[in-house]
Amino acid sequence: MSATARAQPNIALIKYWGNRNDAMRLPEADSTAMTLDSPSVTVTAEHSEILNVRSFGEDGKEKILTEKDTARFGKHIDLMKNYFLHLNAEEALPCSLSLTIRSGIPSAVGIASSSAVFAAVARAVAGLVEDIIPLTDTQVSILARLGSGSAARSIFSGFAALRAGGGSRIDASFGQQIADVDHWLLHDVIIAPSTAEKKVGSTEGHALAHTSPFFEARLAAIRMRRLKECVEAILRKDFELLQRVSEEDCMDMHKVMETSTPALHYLSEETHRIVSEIKDLRQKEHVPVLYTMDAGPTVHLFCPDEGYLKVLAYARKQEEKGCRVFDARAGEGAKLVRTKKPITV
Ligand code: DP6
Repeated sequence: MSATARAQPNIALIKYWGNRNDAMRLPEADSTAMTLDSPSVTVTAEHSEILNVRSFGEDGKEKILTEKDTARFGKHIDLMKNYFLHLNAEEALPCSLSLTIRSGIPSAVGIASSSAVFAAVARAVAGLVEDIIPLTDTQVSILARLGSGSAARSIFSGFAALRAGGGSRIDASFGQQIADVDHWLLHDVIIAPSTAEKKVGSTEGHALAHTSPFFEARLAAIRMRRLKECVEAILRKDFELLQRVSEEDCMDMHKVMETSTPALHYLSEETHRIVSEIKDLRQKEHVPVLYTMDAGPTVHLFCPDEGYLKVLAYARKQEEKGCRVFDARAGEGAKLVRTKKPITV
């Protein structure tokens, strides 16, 4: 039997950075994000005696996975088994998995590829085990979180949160929808200044968050104010509030990254140039647009329809300077595409 699922990345508005338990990806604070409509990742999962992962890139060519990449899927499977044990459904995942990943996302250019990959793995695994234990979206989001924290949000369409929860139970933290995709059709015009792979991945980065002298203040700001403001902004479709709180949170996360030991510098000169030009565009031409960056130099420009054409025109000009541009908008959560059952006679 096999199950195939498709998922898209999500881009955080309140950023997830730092865990209370790194191995289980139990975050310190809640985060929020918008799930995109593209690019997509498709994952086919099959039961297998041993772990087998094949990955194909946006050009259709098979990617050579490093030992570290493959080990990450192995760890994810072990954690998913622990979760099934917790659900009294040990038999759901008896051995290992064979995974075939087809990604339309260039890896590590700041388009959150791991969020889409692990959301698709989780949804495919849920399809694979549905006759033994049907899972709710919340449970599927926990499966996704065990592979990549941000993936828990890509299970849901539109806008979603990753709730940190409390304590150390495997199911303490989970994804939750804030508003569906047709609630507010925001665009995300993505400008990737460089396609070079980032040096330190988010997994290693999360483990350093506590070393920054600004980390505790960041957690307090999210818990006391930012999260509430962000959810309110989404529910009320208040773009000005969303812009203020998400830009504040993004720059605050980068301050934590840049002051951790060792320091993590993800933003490039190009990032700073684009951000300052966007601020000018906003001020001089009153274009509603907000910028946000994850663990890389890529700039995400969120805007409502009113700002879209001007933001896209700005982005297209950046292509002449060697940037890659992706034109995305709010999209659907991870979906099961098909399941193939063995023919029984
Ligand atoms: C900066 O979810 O990529 O994009 O759980 O180790 O895979 P892992 O980390 P990941 O961290 C996301 C970091 C971020 C912010 C965000 O998406 O919230």
